Amino acid sequence: MDSLILAIESSCDETSAALIRGGKLLNNIVATQSVHENYGGVVPELASRAHQQHIVPIVSTALKEAGVDRHELDAVAFTQGPGLLGALMVGASFAKGLALGLGIPLIGVNHMQAHILAHFIGDSKPSFPFLCLTVSGGHTQIVLVRDYLDMQVIGETQDDAVGEAFDKSAKLLGLPYPGGHLIDRYAAQGNPKAFDFPDTAMPGLNFSFSGIKTAFLYFLRDMKAGNPNFVADNMPDICASLQYTLIRMLMQKLKRAAKEYGIREIAIAGGVSANAGLRTTLNLEAEKRNWNVYIPDFQYCTDNAGMIAITAHFKYLKGDFVQQDATPMPRMVLPRLS
Ligand code: KG4
Ligand code: ZN
Repeated sequence: MDSLILAIESSCDETSAALIRGGKLLNNIVATQSVHENYGGVVPELASRAHQQHIVPIVSTALKEAGVDRHELDAVAFTQGPGLLGALMVGASFAKGLALGLGIPLIGVNHMQAHILAHFIGDSKPSFPFLCLTVSGGHTQIVLVRDYLDMQVIGETQDDAVGEAFDKSAKLLGLPYPGGHLIDRYAAQGNPKAFDFPDTAMPGLNFSFSGIKTAFLYFLRDMKAGNPNFVADNMPDICASLQYTLIRMLMQKLKRAAKEYGIREIAIAGGVSANAGLRTTLNLEAEKRNWNVYIPDFQYCTDNAGMIAITAHFKYLKGDFVQQDATPMPRMVLPRLS
């Protein structure tokens, strides 16, 4: 019989539940927390409270929508880390209680591994080995993926994540949180060469995004000194130029990694992979370099339990379970290739 698994994601500001049967995703219910919009970032305490409110209705909806009784479940999976401790604890505690009550195994999932394995939800799947550029609000990594559960980081940011650079720049432009997708939308109408921002050079396959944030802050300060309406007058060009720089920094390292490792199977994952500019640039490079590129559906780019469910499916097949005393791990990492 195909295994039936309930998966729960609660690492940041999305409460999500999904059901998967025999590796086929049945649904993916996501509740996004709007409470953080006015604060310019996720407020951890508010995130935990919102998860508490959403988790039972979200899981009930997932079960009801799929016509599944909880007694049919074979396992319960949850995001073990990385993420906000209080937020992770809500999902972990719920999953533990349910698994204990039903007498079924528990599966702890690494959120970053799950972003990558989201590529195995749909029909277009990368073949091993492939490289994945994982770009989110908390991470920027290039991962060498040898098998479903065998992956190593070969490059990563030494400071801010690229999603953070998008969101903090958006905040400086007076846009609400999270502003990444708004920059993307304005950028579509702007000139990417209108303004010039510096790249931060990093050795090897590592990234740095804290410098551009500071450069952007001073750029706006100087331009506003000459024209107080500078931002309102130039929003599309500012966004297009900033986005162009961020994408260029990502692509430089990705091209280098592909060359060094001799790999042409290239995937992107994480919230920033929803970016239209990044998707277009990646497709253009793919044509030039004969890469096969894999870009997840929008709904599987940002945080969702579907990606936790597909990872749990592979872990279930290996009998990779955690015990009831498993604790959330805010800084859970993927191994680094040494
Ligand atoms: O993976 P994710 O949902 O959560 C984390 O694990 O961090 O990623 C969220 C990040 C935020 O920084 C958000 O602004 C960014 O993804 N993001 C985008 C776009 N859509 C979401 N950044 C740029 N362009 C987009 N279209
Ligand atoms: Zn994420």
